[in-house]
Amino acid sequence: MKVHVFKSKEMIDQEVATLIVSKINAKPNFVIGLATGSTPLGIYQELISLYQQNKVSFKDVTSFNLDEYVGLEKMHPQSYRYYMNHHLFSKTDFNVENTFFPGETSENYDLLIASKGGIDLQILGIGGNGHIAFNEPGTSFDALTHETLLAHQTRLDNSRFFNSLEEVPTKALTMGLGSIMCAKEIILVATGLNKAEAVKSMIEGDINVNCPASILQNHINVHIYLDEDAASLLEGN
Ligand code: PGA
Repeated sequence: MKVHVFKSKEMIDQEVATLIVSKINAKPNFVIGLATGSTPLGIYQELISLYQQNKVSFKDVTSFNLDEYVGLEKMHPQSYRYYMNHHLFSKTDFNVENTFFPGETSENYDLLIASKGGIDLQILGIGGNGHIAFNEPGTSFDALTHETLLAHQTRLDNSRFFNSLEEVPTKALTMGLGSIMCAKEIILVATGLNKAEAVKSMIEGDINVNCPASILQNHINVHIYLDEDAASLLEGN
């Protein structure tokens, strides 16, 4: 794992977006794994800005989103399909037919990813409980894309986007940790003090299903981008 600590979230957003753009320019039919939540929003804004400056085209890029709620209409404002259309796809030249979500296709998601050549770069956030995508503590490290129950803490965390906790779905479809580990390169971004414990367990703890993100220690090409708050509990920091 390579850990990069930045003074601000804005600096991380610029750095990661610039990196993504340079990789797409080097390989226009790039396959990118995308995340939702608050973490990648700034990266998507930077990507839109670079697109508007004609620095990149996404028209031949294929994307695979990590996860999607079960039970929300596709166009529900809190569905991840809606989020991606709204925050990235509709504001760039992404070909929506090349954008995939678990549950939207009848094909096996992991086989579909493999048929496109695999994910060149996976963008990840991390939950306060150490989850990545909706792989909650206790999920097998070998799991491929599957349906899962959301942890109470995750529903509480995500209830800020809904009118009430009751409205937050109880289930989701998610790429498994085994699916995520197949990505050729992974960038995980974490900012804020509320992520500091999970970041410490991920980087310095044992590899243990209680911290799903700790499996990333076994991946050969992982970059962790942190602000100073998220990095504050790391040894030597
Ligand atoms: P956040 O969520 O980006 O909204 O903090 C990250 C996650 O739960 O994986």
